[in-house]
Amino acid sequence: MKKVNIILFGIGNVGSTLIEQLFDTKKQWEEHFGASINIPVIANSTKALFKAEGINENWEKDFKKSAEAYKLEDILDFTKENDFEHLIAIDATASKEFVEIYIRLVQNGFSLVAANKVANTLSADFYKKLRKELEYHGKHFLYETNVGAGLPIVQTIQGLHQAGEKITKVRGVFSGSLSYIFNTFSTNKERFSEVLQKADKLGYTEPDPREDLSGNDVGRKLLILARELQLEKEFEEVEIQSLIPEHLNGETSAEEFQENLGDLDEIFQQRKKDQDTDHVLRYIGEIEVKKAALEAKLISEPKNTALGQIKGADNIFEIYTESYGDQPLVIQGAGAGAAVTARGVVSDVLKIAQQL
Ligand SMILES: NC(=O)c1ccc[n+]([C@@H]2O[C@H](COP(=O)([O-])OP(=O)(O)OC[C@H]3O[C@@H](n4cnc5c(N)ncnc54)[C@H](OP(=O)(O)O)[C@@H]3O)[C@@H](O)[C@H]2O)c1
Repeated sequence: MKKVNIILFGIGNVGSTLIEQLFDTKKQWEEHFGASINIPVIANSTKALFKAEGINENWEKDFKKSAEAYKLEDILDFTKENDFEHLIAIDATASKEFVEIYIRLVQNGFSLVAANKVANTLSADFYKKLRKELEYHGKHFLYETNVGAGLPIVQTIQGLHQAGEKITKVRGVFSGSLSYIFNTFSTNKERFSEVLQKADKLGYTEPDPREDLSGNDVGRKLLILARELQLEKEFEEVEIQSLIPEHLNGETSAEEFQENLGDLDEIFQQRKKDQDTDHVLRYIGEIEVKKAALEAKLISEPKNTALGQIKGADNIFEIYTESYGDQPLVIQGAGAGAAVTARGVVSDVLKIAQQL
């Protein structure tokens, strides 16, 4: 039976859920896919647990007791000493620096699965260099959860594009936090600042909500999808409407921003009032393929459309193509959360395992 060796970087929300899901699917993989799963190394930003026979259900205790400070070399040496084959490195970190080691991993025999978006949103040069290395070494890189968490967005776009279907436009609500904020604000009577506080309590926003309100996360996801469509774009070329008032931008501290949260109320109340009847506010991302234009912006949308009717923190993606005509292919559902994201990662790992 083929043994797939998984080296997991990042054991936070997604990483720890992923470990549990991999344990749960172990039997199914062995029975149906002829593959067994072994997780010989798990690591956070400072420490790694090495277990040649693979971690087990006691991994949290074992990590606390036996994890040691490490460098990438230690992991590479360990995999060589143990003659591990079918290596897959999973990036479940949120680290900007971690992606610097992707190419070294590929050169050392690893395929990659990433929940982390960073690698696909760096320069187009890095994007191409990584793909060249993958091709040269015959390795794979999957990252379905970069956009829409567990929703099958990347694979759908890839599949249509590779099959020669002409995608003309992708439009949707790409951010779970901004989805919740505007779905709630548009229908409830609460002030914008109250909705923001509620979103924070529910764990939808980043500790500093300006990360969400900047629109940068939506911009990054647009870039990832655009590159799937062979649009050679850089992050700086994405037109992003920030929702942060200028006087509360990055130069003010997160505390100052929180103290002045009320300043946002008048701005968004007015925006809500200025709409036509039966319209709602939505923060959307849009790729106009022909114009190669990528835009993230706040719009007013009729409330009976697919975008207008979404609820909670759902994501929605409308994919317009030549064959689908005016009626887009629509994918909708939870666009965030550890369980759905980890499941998307498991699915990527399985796809690679089947090709190894
Ligand atoms: N949660 C979601 O709904 C969702 C959806 C789609 C995609 N994602 C992506 O999934 C990734 C993980 O999210 P999360 O919510 O699990 O984050 P998290 O809870 O903050 O966990 C991050 C983990 O990465 C580790 N880490 C940070 N830098 C590292 C490095 N250089 N090397 C090795 N490990 C490192 C952290 O270790 P320390 O504890 O030592 O810092 C921690 O274990 C992120 O990129 C996120 O954008 C998440």
